[in-house]
Amino acid sequence: MIPILLLSGPNLNLLGERDPAQYGTMTLQSLVRQVALWGDERGFHVRAFQSNHEGVLIDAIQEARHWAQGALINPGAFGHYSYALHDALLDFAKPVIEVHLSKVSEREEWRRKSVIRPACRDHVEGLGVEGYRVALDKLAAILKAN
Ligand code: DQA
Repeated sequence: MIPILLLSGPNLNLLGERDPAQYGTMTLQSLVRQVALWGDERGFHVRAFQSNHEGVLIDAIQEARHWAQGALINPGAFGHYSYALHDALLDFAKPVIEVHLSKVSEREEWRRKSVIRPACRDHVEGLGVEGYRVALDKLAAILKAN
């Protein structure tokens, strides 16, 4: 099994309650379970972590340098302005797929920009939870090609 990190940023702990029109009704706990199952089918062992704090997310990325072969990250709003997260992902130096549940490119102006994208190999948006399955396939294809 290939170990990968599933990282969730601020406010994603409120999935299921928060703005279901944008983010759906699934809780983060169920999402993590679903991604772990999809990961299993693709030979990934998924380790999940969520934090509302930028520095704690950075610590998790730095720690993952020692064990993860890749990562899926939904950075929440940090994706729009955290250069520190960008740098942490660069230093992670393994393939990262950025995932957003909602279609950020068609929402408010400030959400259209992702500052972490240059540190990611690909991104998926607007597909809800299904987007994580697509992201796992993208990660699998990248790791297979390496
Ligand atoms: C999000 C989009 C972000 O703009 C927002 O701040 C989130 C969730 C998404 O999954 O669509 O917290 O990353």
